[in-house]
Amino acid sequence: MKKTVLVSGGAGFIGSHVTVELLEAGYEVVVADNMSNCDMTCFEGVKKITGRADLPFEKVDFCDAVATEALFDKYKIDAVIHFAAFKAVGESVDKPVMYYKNNLGSFLNVLEAAQTHGGCNVLFSSSATVYGQPEKLPVTEESPRQPATSPYGATKQMCEDILQDTVKASGGAIKGILLRYFNPIGAHPSALIGELPRGVPNNLVPFITQTAIGKRECLSIFGDDYPTPDGTCLRDYIDIVDLAKAHVFAVTRMIEGKMKKDCEVFNVGTGRPVSVMELVTAFEKVNGLKLNYKIAPRRPGDVTAVWADPTLANKELGWKATRSVEETLKAAWAWEKHLAGK
Ligand code: UFG
Repeated sequence: MKKTVLVSGGAGFIGSHVTVELLEAGYEVVVADNMSNCDMTCFEGVKKITGRADLPFEKVDFCDAVATEALFDKYKIDAVIHFAAFKAVGESVDKPVMYYKNNLGSFLNVLEAAQTHGGCNVLFSSSATVYGQPEKLPVTEESPRQPATSPYGATKQMCEDILQDTVKASGGAIKGILLRYFNPIGAHPSALIGELPRGVPNNLVPFITQTAIGKRECLSIFGDDYPTPDGTCLRDYIDIVDLAKAHVFAVTRMIEGKMKKDCEVFNVGTGRPVSVMELVTAFEKVNGLKLNYKIAPRRPGDVTAVWADPTLANKELGWKATRSVEETLKAAWAWEKHLAGK
């Protein structure tokens, strides 16, 4: 019998890539999304890539407790991967109530449904944002969490704590894994799924590709006076397909009962710091084009540098990031061109 994974927020950027990898690894997947921040482009792309025209899709808002319960009644769910959340840092500062209500409410409903259905394996998509500006680099899972600098970041920390507490109280019925993502970028090599930001992108790579295609006039590089080798910030950019594969290893570890603790935490990164300027230069080089960019003031809230020590995930999950920044930036550009019909 195939095991079934519920992917909440499964029509979005990360969710759609994870769905492809789960299906390719032999899992059955139920994709659920309220479509508040995406359209059906990626879901249709997933069906095409995997040849699964019959892939189940449920339009569900996880803030609706009754609808969430009904989903757990309808399917026998072996694991849930919870992505459904708002994710814009700046917007969360302006609309904290909306962020806390949505990001905490949806996760609480998932956990409640897991409880009423006799337990479940729960994977929560967390973020390197929980580390803030770390005192020591690279960061390990033991590195202390820093106070959140935005309501968005606070929801990630709170959901981590909620899952830890729920697992502890469940007497083994609920198992949890927290994956802390660094900076996911790129697109599927088929160019059928990728990042589809609404409006002006906040993140670097979509802004780069939209500038290259002519949707944006000029990329602003936020600050070149940081205490780093070239003055621009350092991040750990991880290929979206590599990141998606980490979920398959984590889900399998939970389902096969291989966990060493009932709630585990893993960094999902490459261990390789790359500066904003290096990323821009690599994009130009690998795709053979010139990007219009300028140096702009620092963006409030940005940390100088953060990158992962991925040793634990490498060792325990048997997973490792394999794609080069160049391959990833090629895929990101192929996706932007696909969107433009080129
Ligand atoms: N940057 C630019 N110009 C842009 C966009 C970004 O120079 O137009 C720079 C930023 O200043 C930063 C780097 O590119 O130095 C990466 O910025 P992103 O916005 O792509 O990513 P962040 O590291 O800021 O954000 C990521 C996740 C968030 C998470 C945050 C926590 O996308 O979800 O890490 O650190 F909250």
